[in-house]
Amino acid sequence: MKLKNDILIRALLREPTPYTPVWLMRQAGRYLPEYNATRKRAGSFLALCKNPDLATEVTLQPLARFPLDAAILFSDILTVPDAMGLGLYFADGEGPKFERPLREEWAIRDLFVPDPTVHLRYVLDAVRQIRQALAGSVPLIGFSGSPFTLACYMIEGQGSDDFAQAKTMLYTRPDLMHHILDITTQAVALYLNAQIEAGAQAVMIFDTWGGMLSHAAFHEFSLAYSRRVIAELKRTRDGMRVPCIVFTKGGGMWLESIAASGCDAVGLDWTCDLGAARQRVGERVALQGNLDPAILLTSVDVVRGETKRVLEQFGRGTGHVFNLGHGISQHTPPENVAALVETVHDSSAAYH
Ligand code: CP3
Repeated sequence: MKLKNDILIRALLREPTPYTPVWLMRQAGRYLPEYNATRKRAGSFLALCKNPDLATEVTLQPLARFPLDAAILFSDILTVPDAMGLGLYFADGEGPKFERPLREEWAIRDLFVPDPTVHLRYVLDAVRQIRQALAGSVPLIGFSGSPFTLACYMIEGQGSDDFAQAKTMLYTRPDLMHHILDITTQAVALYLNAQIEAGAQAVMIFDTWGGMLSHAAFHEFSLAYSRRVIAELKRTRDGMRVPCIVFTKGGGMWLESIAASGCDAVGLDWTCDLGAARQRVGERVALQGNLDPAILLTSVDVVRGETKRVLEQFGRGTGHVFNLGHGISQHTPPENVAALVETVHDSSAAYH
C-alpha cells in the first residue's frame, strides 16, 4: 500500500520534503490519560506490550491527538532478553528488572538466539495489526535496543546509574562480554528483520547507554555490534527503502563514526548543536532530534520558541526529522506536545 504521508521516509533518505516531519520518542505513554486507562485495563505495562490489540490501541493514541508524521510500535527494548529467558518484570514504580540476570559464566555460555516468529510473535502480530489500522496514513517505525544497551540490562538485571557490573565484566572478562554481544547481535538482527517483514517501514536502534563508555570501549563494544546489526538488515520491502536510525544517548562526540555505521540517520540528544552536527556529518546521513524533553514541562510559549530554535539550528534543506533528545516525560502536559507539533509544521516549511 502506498503511503499517504511519506515525509518521514523522505527526510530520513535526505530527499526533498515540503516541511520537517515530527514524531516523539515515547509518544505513546503515561503523559496521556488515555494511555493510563488502557494500561489499567491491560493490568500492567508488560501485559499491554504482550497484547497486540491493546498495543495497537496505544500506538494510535498520540496520532489521534496530534498530526504526527509517524507511528512507533508500542513495545519495549527489553522484550528481546525476555525472549532469551531472563524473565522481564516491572516492579511498580521501579522500572524494569530481570529474574535471571547474567551473573554466571555457564548462564552466559547457555544464551541462545530466540526465533522472533516464536518467542516474539506478539510483537510481530502487533506490527501487522498497527499497519492495518494505520491504513497507509503514516509510516510505522519498528525498533530494538542496541546489543550493548541490552547487554547492560541483562548483566545488571535492572536499570542503574553507572552499570558498574556490566562495565566490570567488560574490563575483566571481555571474552564473556563479546559472547553476550555476539548472541544479542544475532537476536537483534533477526528481530528487526522480522519486524520489517511484518510491516515496519523504518527501524531505530536505541543505544541508550553507549554514551557512558570510554572512546575506545564505545567503538569496540557498542558501535561495532550496532554496525553488524545494520549490515544484516533487510533494507527494502515492497520496493521501498527501509531506513535505519541509530540513536546513541551521549554519543555527540562520536558523530562521525556513528554516521559511518551504515545507518541512514543519526538520532541526537539535546547536548549538541544541530547545525554543528550537520556540518560534521555532511551529506552522509539525516539527523533526528534534538529538543530537550524538559522543555515540554514548561509553557506553550517556551515550547514554541525553543522548537523554532531547533529548526533554525538545522537550517535550510532536507535531512532533518524533528524529535526530542530523549523520551517524553510522564509529567508533560499534552497541550505542550500539541504546540510543538503545530510549530514544527507551521514554521518548518520556510526551510524547505
Ligand atoms: O517511543 C515509543 O513510544 C515506543 C515505545 C517505547 C517504550 N520503551 C515504551 C515504554 C520504546 C521505544 C521504549 C524503549 C526503551 N525501553 C528504552 C530505550 C529508549 C530510552 O528511553 O532510552 C529503554 C532504555 C527501555 C527500558 C525501559 N522501559 C525503562 C528504563 C522503563 C522505565 C522508564 C520509566 O519511565 O518508568 C521502561 C518502561 C516503559 N517503556 C514505559 C513505556 C511507555 C513506561 C511503562 C509504564 O507504563 O509504566
